[in-house]
Amino acid sequence: MFKNVIVRKPSKNMVDGITSAPELGKPDFELALKQHENYINALKSCGVKVTKLDVNDRYPDSCFVEDVAVLNRKCAIITNPGAESRKGEEKEIIDEIKKFYPEDKIEYIKAPGTLEGGDVMMVGDHFYVGLSDRTNQDGIDQFIKILDKYKLTGSAVEMKEFLHLKTGVAYLENNNLLVSGEFIEHPDFKDFNRIIIDDDEQYASNSIWVNEKVIVPEGYEKAKKSIEDAGYEVIVVDTSEYRKLDGGLSCLSLRF
Ligand code: GLY
Repeated sequence: MFKNVIVRKPSKNMVDGITSAPELGKPDFELALKQHENYINALKSCGVKVTKLDVNDRYPDSCFVEDVAVLNRKCAIITNPGAESRKGEEKEIIDEIKKFYPEDKIEYIKAPGTLEGGDVMMVGDHFYVGLSDRTNQDGIDQFIKILDKYKLTGSAVEMKEFLHLKTGVAYLENNNLLVSGEFIEHPDFKDFNRIIIDDDEQYASNSIWVNEKVIVPEGYEKAKKSIEDAGYEVIVVDTSEYRKLDGGLSCLSLRF
């Protein structure tokens, strides 16, 4: 169960955030703010305490707070983002993390290693880490070494298609895994109860489990039904403006 969630309010210059889908247009900032509030309310309805960090104008992608830290019940790992424009963004979360973890339980990924939290999927005490354009082998090796210190385990996941691992896969607990695209038949995930998300609804594979409920992006009816059929109460939140920046429900928070 998660007790806490950290989010960061988007800054006006989010419209200049990284995107692989410029054809979707620039985000509407006012709408993005409303969607962020709705997202926070959905999280609160799952019984977590939400800490809202101040706007950070220095980093357009700073609302995607998931990428700069990996938090678990034993330690916090401050990452080292692989995206050029996000380098240094991780430093801006450290003071907040210190309010939740003692300093000797805060670890750091160091250059030349890179790692972004969007590439990390926690399954109990095991962490799958996508070897992506943002997360390199050195980052994964450091990450697994840190996990080992806390008697946790990790493994690298080969991937080619998606930005981050969790762009295409989401763990819903109880061995249930949303999978899309290259992850549907991925050997690393064959032992899960796979809930397949069709290509035309791929964005919905970035849904999030929060204390027995699943928050799903608005507009993906087949995915919503599949998740409901698997026995979950679903909460729908519109994240259309974040989708324009390759961002999804998981990217917008740290849940721990
Ligand atoms: N726009 C989110 C990211 O690329 O990290």
